[in-house]
Amino acid sequence: MSTIAKQNYRGAYHVSPQTNWMNDPNGMVYFEGEYHLFFQHHPNGDTWGPMHWGHVVSTDLVTWEELDIALAPDELGTIFSGSAVVDWNNTTGFFDQGDPGLVAIFTHHLEEAGRPVIQRQSLAYSKDKGRTWVKYAGNPVLEHESFVDFRDPKVFWHEQSSRWAMIIACGQTVCLYHSADLKSWNFGSEFGSGIGSHDGVWECPDLFPLALDGDPANVKWVMLVSIGADPAFAEGSRTQYFTGDFDGVTFTPDAASMQVRWADHGRDNYAGVTWSDVPAEDGRRLFIGWMSNWQYANQTPTEGFRGAMTIPRELTLETINGKPSLMQKPAYELENARKQVLAMENSSAAQVSEALRSLQLVSYEIHAQLPAGQSLGFKVRAGASDETVVGIDASAIQTIYADRMNSGQHSFHALFRSVNSAAITPAGESVELRIFVDAGSVEVFGNEGEAAITNLIYPDADATGVSFFSADSELIIPSLRIYELAPLAAN
Ligand code: FRU
Repeated sequence: MSTIAKQNYRGAYHVSPQTNWMNDPNGMVYFEGEYHLFFQHHPNGDTWGPMHWGHVVSTDLVTWEELDIALAPDELGTIFSGSAVVDWNNTTGFFDQGDPGLVAIFTHHLEEAGRPVIQRQSLAYSKDKGRTWVKYAGNPVLEHESFVDFRDPKVFWHEQSSRWAMIIACGQTVCLYHSADLKSWNFGSEFGSGIGSHDGVWECPDLFPLALDGDPANVKWVMLVSIGADPAFAEGSRTQYFTGDFDGVTFTPDAASMQVRWADHGRDNYAGVTWSDVPAEDGRRLFIGWMSNWQYANQTPTEGFRGAMTIPRELTLETINGKPSLMQKPAYELENARKQVLAMENSSAAQVSEALRSLQLVSYEIHAQLPAGQSLGFKVRAGASDETVVGIDASAIQTIYADRMNSGQHSFHALFRSVNSAAITPAGESVELRIFVDAGSVEVFGNEGEAAITNLIYPDADATGVSFFSADSELIIPSLRIYELAPLAAN
């Protein structure tokens, strides 16, 4: 197994390429004990360029091994984002009967001097657990007469109609197609006109079922749609979601979807989609996003590599204020990388502050149960001049927030400095806060996954302090745990 070198801002437990550029997660599929994660990759440069599919695999969602490049550009173009599935029943005819294999469905992006850009969908298959790939001789399998932006196919098996379904970005909307064999596709419907945010081009959609409040009799469909950066909006690129029904042809949004809803309230969780073929006995809907923002992705101050993924997250759907709401929690596998640093129960705020005073940490998790209705928080990656503040503000409606105004390097982009917040609705007397800190990032999960804030940070290497603050030093903090996160492969 290759060891990923420790470099400035390279996370200990986040996926990043050994060298050069990474953007969107692609082709996420679970097969024969391995989570595959492909990614948009420029293997010869540390900025965006001719796209290939890089490849990492993991058996535990914590340690990742980088494999050879899976897909490289050819005469049909460079390899843009897409998905992968297990063809269990050899619908494609690529495999031997009874011997399922992997099929990747991706966008071929062709850019030639003096000609308009062409984006078409193609296939590749692997008979050896994703180690080598053969491009289908009949490529491309899907093109469109008028859409210039026609990309990022996400394919899934639609149980009810016993056929494949594809959701794909088509300009300012998404299109739904279906197929019996992944090779020939029929148009079903188009969704997105007059609904949702259109502050940027629509990209990287996903569509999947989730049991509302865990009730298998009440399944709803969730659609993720990322929107590209537009200079008019400080937030840059971000991901919205819709909830509703899907019958194999048409997605029908519910009332809650009439309002724009963001999957993450930070700046650095983009183009995220979910894993295909997670075994039914596991049953989770697992997500990962690209931890950057098109606004400044090409300028971030890392050396030797540029780009990383968020931590893997489990998505669920829960009713909050009468609306089906997307929840995200860190995948539980991350708990296997924990080394406990501190555990306190029912201590006063003053005792907590004192206990944190001597800690020096870079890659860690703070897991706290905090009294609801109070304004308080933590400073992480704190040093002589840097600090990132993560807290709860209870002055009006309760919000969680992450403040990277003084988090470290920021001059690479005028809009990098930000304070991001999200409303939470704690039901009881305490509210859960989980903060995942790493060499170059902070991910915050509030109130059991009701709100997530994902942000990059670029602090000084010696900014390793952590502290706690609260207006009331007598306040009782129900529970606080701090764990160093040290996966073996990163050492
Ligand atoms: C999203 C995206 C996709 C495209 C890929 C190119 O970040 O723009 O729409 O396929 O990146 O690298």
